[in-house]
This record gives sequence, C-alpha cells and structure tokens, in this order.
Amino acid sequence: MKRFTRFPVTDEAIYKSRRLLIKQAIACGLVAGGLVSPARGASEISVTSEKRATTYCNYYEFSSNKQMIHHLAKAFSVSPWTLTIDGEVKKPIQVELSILPDDVSRTYPMRCVEGWTAVIPWQGVMLRDVLSMVEPNENAKYVKFYSVFRPDEMPMQRTGNFPWPYVEGLRLDEAMHPLTMLATKMYDKPLTKQNGAPIRLVVPWKYGYKSIKAITRIELTQNQPVGSWQQAVPSEYDFLGNVNPNQPHPRWSQRRELLLGEKRKRKTLMYNGFESDVAALYA
Ligand code: MTE
Repeated sequence: MKRFTRFPVTDEAIYKSRRLLIKQAIACGLVAGGLVSPARGASEISVTSEKRATTYCNYYEFSSNKQMIHHLAKAFSVSPWTLTIDGEVKKPIQVELSILPDDVSRTYPMRCVEGWTAVIPWQGVMLRDVLSMVEPNENAKYVKFYSVFRPDEMPMQRTGNFPWPYVEGLRLDEAMHPLTMLATKMYDKPLTKQNGAPIRLVVPWKYGYKSIKAITRIELTQNQPVGSWQQAVPSEYDFLGNVNPNQPHPRWSQRRELLLGEKRKRKTLMYNGFESDVAALYA
C-alpha cells in the first residue's frame, strides 16, 4: 500500500492559487505541488471556490434546495457536541471534539451521484486513528454513522418522507483505509454548518451520499448497516456507493461530471480517481 499518511498541511495561499496541477504524482508516492490530490490522468483541476462549495450543498435535513441550505442552517446549533463511539469495541467513548487532532489536510473531489463535484480542502483526522482509540473487537465488521436528529432545528426532519436520522455505513476495511477521514475543518476554517459541522465523514472514492454530515454516533457492528438512501430508494443507492463511470444510476448517467465553476463536463474517473489506492479492497 502506498503511503497516504504524510500529506502535508496545505496553506490558504495554495488553495487560492487558481490552478492545481494534478499529475500522476500520487501514483509514484509523490504529491503534486505540495498538495494532496487524486491522480486524474494528466488533467488539471482547481480547488472549488470556498463561496461556491459553501453555498451549493446537499443536506436534506434542511432542504432539497441546494442554494437555500446555507441560509436554513444558520440557526442550527453545533456546540456543545459530543460524539459517541460504541458497539463492538473494547473501549466505548464519548469524545469532546476539541480533543481530536485536525492536522490531516486533504484536498478531495466530493463527487455527488447527481453528477456534480466540489474539490474541497478538508482538515481533520484519519478515521482509523479515531477507531483505534476504541479498539474494535473481533466481531466488528462494519461501521455505522448516525447524523444528528433535531427536528426542532431541521425542518425536513419534521416530515416523514425519509428515514431520519440520516445514517450511513462502511466496511471496517474501508473505514480503516488511510484515505478515509473525519473532517472538522475545510479551507482551514471550522466546517460550516451547511457542509456538516461540527464533524463529518469524507470518503473520497465514494459518491457524496456516503460522506455523512453532523455525526453524533459511530457504532461498530457485526452486520452490514443499511444507509438511509439505500433504505429509502434501494433501486438507486447501494451500500458501497463507489464512484463508477460504467454503472449508470437510474436517473443520472455517471459517465461525466461537472466540477463546480466549470462550463464543460469531464469524464468521471473510476473510484473518483483513487483506483490505484482502493481497487484492491474490492478485488
Ligand atoms: N449528510 C447528511 N446528514 N444529510 C444529507 O442530506 N447529503 C449527502 C452528504 N452527506 C447529506 C449528508 C450528499 S447526497 C452529498 S453529495 C454530500 O453530503 C454533499 O456534501 P457538501 O454539501 O458538503 O458538498
């Protein structure tokens, strides 16, 4: 396995530079321009502007209107917040988020199954470092994540149109992969409410619906969890949710994607550009 643990913390000046040269550097264990990015052939991709990434969001607890979410989330309170990690573990814990390190910095494309992508610099911690604190036991095969359930603050949770709270799951090996992170910051600032404050999952080779926001509980389980989208629309969402241009979604062809801010669509890459890093998980 190549090393992904040594990604340097990138600074705001680099995020602001207009173009990010993304080469095959990762494939050689190198990092292009001092930044972490997926190998996307010889193409260049830009970091999405912070304004765009924070005003065009998916967060169904608030609304299905992507541009309204940042307004609707203003009154949502994200402090104090405790994260419970329990289930098939030797040492269940409740963590104060302030004790979590946030020195892992990764720029990943967030590829929504709807066909758009935001390239976002995230800061946080590798999920595997958090899971190692609780010591998963021999029954632990999966990891289930629960979003907050606060119908008073989240208008769509007052409707019965979705299996609230939003839940998602990973296999334990996916959760332990060094690319998988819990983000508490983006663009080197605290995560905005609309993007999942105070803590969210980021799994870069999977469709965005796997990257659950506002996590309150992480439960290690023996059985495969059912994600909320998988439960709501099983014909459209599967458990793995791996980005795959050859497997069309019933509503959206996955062949091409629009990077937010660009005019022309690009080809979707297998595993969102992380094929050489994760394909072995599915061999
Ligand atoms: N997490 C929760 N709790 N609720 C949601 O509706 N939407 C998902 C994911 N996480 C969602 C969620 C989907 S479909 C996508 S594409 C990403 O969040 C979008 O992340 P972003 O808005 O930060 O770009």
